[in-house]
Parts: sequence; structure tokens; C-alpha cells
Amino acid sequence: MSSLPKLGWDQLDWSVLDRLRKQFLSDELSAGPYWQSLADLAHYDLTFAERIGWKWDHVLAELKQRGWSPPAGPLLDWGCGSGIAHRRVARAWPEVPTSLQVFDHSLLAEKFAINRWRDLPTEIAIDSWDRSVNPTTLVISHVINELSDDDAEDLMTALESATTVLWIEPGASDAAHMLVDWRERLRGKFNIIYPCPHQGRCGLLAAGNENHWCHHFAPPPGELGADPNWVKFGQRAGIDLRSLPYSALVLDRREAPVEPVPPGHIVGRIIGRPKVAKPFARLLGCDETSVSTLQLPRRLAPSLVKKLDRPTAPRRMHWQRMDGTVTRVQAVAPAKSD
Ligand SMILES: C[S@@+](CC[C@H](N)C(=O)[O-])C[C@H]1O[C@@H](n2cnc3c(N)ncnc32)[C@H](O)[C@@H]1O
Repeated sequence: MSSLPKLGWDQLDWSVLDRLRKQFLSDELSAGPYWQSLADLAHYDLTFAERIGWKWDHVLAELKQRGWSPPAGPLLDWGCGSGIAHRRVARAWPEVPTSLQVFDHSLLAEKFAINRWRDLPTEIAIDSWDRSVNPTTLVISHVINELSDDDAEDLMTALESATTVLWIEPGASDAAHMLVDWRERLRGKFNIIYPCPHQGRCGLLAAGNENHWCHHFAPPPGELGADPNWVKFGQRAGIDLRSLPYSALVLDRREAPVEPVPPGHIVGRIIGRPKVAKPFARLLGCDETSVSTLQLPRRLAPSLVKKLDRPTAPRRMHWQRMDGTVTRVQAVAPAKSD
């Protein structure tokens, strides 16, 4: 029987949610764990964490469409909070985690995540992190800007032992820049599966790209606008729930499958939100040559360009480009349609 507090939308305590949000938005590193009770985690799980879950769904949907999955084995959720990240990963690939481990410097968070999982109809065991067991898959979510240098080294130890890593962070520039720094530290040890269309140095580190950051937008669930609980939550919290910016990094030590690319094309990804105008879309394009602003003429792919500013639109392409213009394009990872 679960020991978790049951929480309904009509029981939200806004003093809890306001305190947590202030904490998340603060630039200051917290002096230690900030969860004060299991009720804090229940509030978080119903609201902010669920919103994070929508970002996970977007990344996982593309990975699944591309036929990628982590290998089966123990899965560790590092900085687990209420456990939304491992629950989303296990829902996407029920056969992947053979066991779950959670780590958080808050024991309350670990307790909540463990009990939340045990309330689900599943046989998969969950426990606190046993450092003698190497995780096959490491899951990290929304923790990057809470880490001291020592914490980061502890996280690096976990990264060193994992085969695959799934990592999602906020889409704000500070978190996204930090994630690029991690990418550069880990590149060479892992293949980069997402979001990068190449394995080289991040093109955002080139001179001239200082004002850009690697962020992406997930679509909210289709029924969100018709759900009065979420509408009220968004208004009271001052959050535009339709905008779900995130940054991400998915890594794999296994050999990368060879991707068939049409002759003369390279793999590219659109960063951020393109601007669609009548004759063309203007976008920030990333590929093995650079990160740079590109124009994609509407006549090349009218139905693609028309919807390109929607978060449901494809972001991964095979393209040819010349002098700042895309000259041929094929979307390769269409997102869910809206
Ligand atoms: C914003 S919450 C995110 C929780 C969860 N990963 C999610 O995506 O919903 C950040 C979590 O990281 C934990 N955390 C922060 N610093 C940590 C550290 N040094 N070691 C372990 N956990 C840490 C916090 O206690 C908190 O539960």
C-alpha cells in the first residue's frame, strides 16, 4: 500500500508551488535539498514534473521513430526528484529497464520516486542507487543548474559507467550552454544520438554563434487547452504551457548505425523555432559543417515550410545547402502531427 499523499487539482497548495518555482528560477545554488515534505513532491509531480514529462515524450518519440532504443539493463535516474524521467523512459520502452535505481541528494525525493513507481502495475524492482551496479542507461533531467563542481564530478562518475545516457534540461540559454559543455567532455567516449546530426565539435562554439543556444520545443498534449485544471494552473503560475523549450543530449557507447542519406545530402537539424515568411522559412540550421542561419525556400517543400514554426513539425532533415540557402530537403524525423 502506498505511503504517498494523494493530491487532486482541487487540493493544490499554492504556497508550496510558489516556493518551488522560486527555487527553480533562482540563480543561486541551494544550500542543500529543498524538498520539505512528500507533499512538496506530490505537488511537483502533478504539475511541473508532468510538464517536464511532455518534453521527454517529444525526445523519446523521435528516438523511437528513428528505431533507436537503449539496451536492456539497470536504469539509473540521477537527481530523480519525483521520478518523472524514468517513468517516461520506462513507458516508452517497457522492456528496457530490468531494474530501476534512483539517486537524489534528498532522501524524501528518493522515497517519493520509489513509492510512486511501486504504485504502478509493474514487476520491475526499484531502489536507491547501489553504486556497485553499473547502470546500462542513465537518465538525467532538470538538474544541471543545481550542481556544484563536486556534484558535477559525482555525476561524471555515473556517466563514466553508463552505456547510454538520456538527458533533458530546460531550454534556457544557461542550461543549454552547460549541456554543450558536457557534450564536449563526453564526445569521443559516446556517440551522440540526439539532438546533434554529427559527432564533431559543437558548431555553436564557433566564433559568431555566441548569441545562439541549442534549444528545441516540444508540443504540449493536444487536449491541454480544454483541460480547466491545466488552464487554471498555467494562469496562476504565469507559465505559457504551450511553449515547452528544452535542451537535450542522448549518448550511446555502442556503435552508431549507418544512416542512409541521399547522395549529396547531409543530416541537419533545426535549432529553436524557425520563422515562416511567404517566400521562405528562416531557421538556425545545425549540420556537420556549421551552425548557421539558413533560408528554406517555400517552393522546395511547400507543405513542410507551411507548418515549420509549429513544435509538431519535423526538425531533423537530410538537406543540401549553399551560401545560406537550403537547396534540397527531406524531413527524416517527422514529429507527431497536430
Ligand atoms: C528540478 S528537480 C528535477 C527532478 C527530476 N529529475 C525531474 O526532471 O522532474 C532537481 C532534482 O535534483 C536533485 N539534486 C540537486 N542537486 C543534486 C545532487 N548534487 N545530487 C543529487 N541530486 C541532486 C534535487 O534534489 C531535485 O530533486
